[in-house]
Amino acid sequence: MLRIAVLLSGTGRSLDNLQQEIAAGRLRAGIALVISSKPEAYGLVRAKAHGLDAVAVSRRDYPDLESFNAAINAALVPYDVGLVVLAGFLSLYQPPPELDGRVMNIHPALLPAFGGKGFYGDRVHQAVLDSGVKVSGCTVHFAESRYDRGPIILQTAVPVLDDDTVQSLAARVFAAECEAYPRAIQLFADDRLRLEGQRVRILPAGG
Ligand code: GAR
Repeated sequence: MLRIAVLLSGTGRSLDNLQQEIAAGRLRAGIALVISSKPEAYGLVRAKAHGLDAVAVSRRDYPDLESFNAAINAALVPYDVGLVVLAGFLSLYQPPPELDGRVMNIHPALLPAFGGKGFYGDRVHQAVLDSGVKVSGCTVHFAESRYDRGPIILQTAVPVLDDDTVQSLAARVFAAECEAYPRAIQLFADDRLRLEGQRVRILPAGG
């Protein structure tokens, strides 16, 4: 069974969704550890309510990204995880060599548009509305050591409606995320993702 670490900084809505999918038997994996970059994050409360191991590794306690990531990676060692899932993690995660190609992120827009440093949460949806595009959506991708970059695994498009607000668009995109993230993780758990340059090929089931 795939052992997952979830890294978050905020409310933990994606964590909740993943745990629900696991509990319902639709995602055959287990969350071994939750790490928050903010000690006050509600995601830690949610993790503990689910009975999960959860710790804060506070970004503020480290002078630079390298020492912060070293502390995260040290916390991961005893848990022997096969996949790190970024779920509203607002810092740049740098995995150790053994987790290379084993880090996923979800972003609430169709990358490579509306991504990068500073593009998170409502800011993304505001930028989408301001631009006038007619579709948005979510992107699940393998994370690289750059914000919101890396080979794309799945994308789901949703319409941007004339009367949308940030809140209404965010809700539509999040509903798409709740389906796409567990599906991408299950594909990984089933060893059905193959990297070909920047492209990710999805192998047929049972192949
Ligand atoms: C997720 O919906 C994800 O799309 C977004 O954070 C949300 C979870 O955070 N991630 C990004 O914007 C990354 N660039 P939350 O649990 O704090 O709501």
